[in-house]
Amino acid sequence: MELGAARLALLSCLGLALLLRGGARAPASGSHEWKKLILVQHWPTTVCEESNDCREPPDYWTIHGLWPDKGGDCNHSWHFNLDEVKDLLGEMKMYWPDVLHASPNRSQFWKHEWEKHGTCAAQLPILNSQRKYFGTSLALYHQLDLNSKLLKLGIKPSTNYYHLADLRDALTRVYGVVPKIQCLPPEQDEKVQTLGQIELCYTKEDLRLRNCTEPGDPPPTWPRLPRAAAQGLSVCELGPVFYPPPRKAPR
Ligand SMILES: *[C@@H]1O[C@H](CO)[C@@H](O)[C@H](O)[C@H]1NC(C)=O
Ligand SMILES: *[C@@H]1O[C@H](CO)[C@@H](O)[C@H](O)[C@H]1NC(C)=O
Ligand SMILES: *[C@@H]1O[C@H](CO)[C@@H](O)[C@H](O)[C@H]1NC(C)=O
Repeated sequence: MELGAARLALLSCLGLALLLRGGARAPASGSHEWKKLILVQHWPTTVCEESNDCREPPDYWTIHGLWPDKGGDCNHSWHFNLDEVKDLLGEMKMYWPDVLHASPNRSQFWKHEWEKHGTCAAQLPILNSQRKYFGTSLALYHQLDLNSKLLKLGIKPSTNYYHLADLRDALTRVYGVVPKIQCLPPEQDEKVQTLGQIELCYTKEDLRLRNCTEPGDPPPTWPRLPRAAAQGLSVCELGPVFYPPPRKAPR
């Protein structure tokens, strides 16, 4: 596979159903039942920490994907077709780049997102084509306007750490719903987790923002694992968070 470890680890939670299913073809309903959509945005500088293949990652939050909260690869015969999203390519290259494998004409990342998540999201009439899936994702990204929201909140990449609770509370205030915030756990010799991904959730019925948490969810308090053990992103812990400034392009 060409996917970086971070992305793989991250996808693995959603991919669990797929793994458990093995080679069997489950019907498109039932096992793929999902109830919310997640717009996942990542911070390219952090994503690139897991890769040797990044060149000049964008210095703004970009789209990772639009994911149903359950299931994956819902329709194996619905292949990605770049032609269907031709009119979106400019925007996709800008806001939905394959951060790990920068190359202008590369469509592997979009193919993966469509086949794994898009074919499941396509249950909804408003997402039942590739044009609609990618177009809607871009529209939600623009609507959320995370980059300007963070700037307005005074949350900028910095060598000073933030408190996770401040990030979470600020985002919750701005959007009116609880996001899910993911970090790279600290390496053994570091003390601080690194901000990597922000997820905002939508209702399945009418694509309105909703909490990513379910009512009655306990706060995430699992023990901290060193990065090597945790393999990629996981839900941030309460405590300090490093929001890393973009690396300077080499001269
Ligand atoms: C799977 O995708 C193919 C190709 O778009 C389509 O014809 C078929 O109806 C889809 N199957 C289901 C169960 O949605
Ligand atoms: C990249 O894609 C564009 C549009 O699809 C095409 O015109 C161009 O020739 C491609 N470039 C390369 C290097 O493949
Ligand atoms: C969303 O989460 C907030 C904070 O935990 C809670 O106060 C609110 O009731 C939740 N909203 C819904 C619709 O569950």
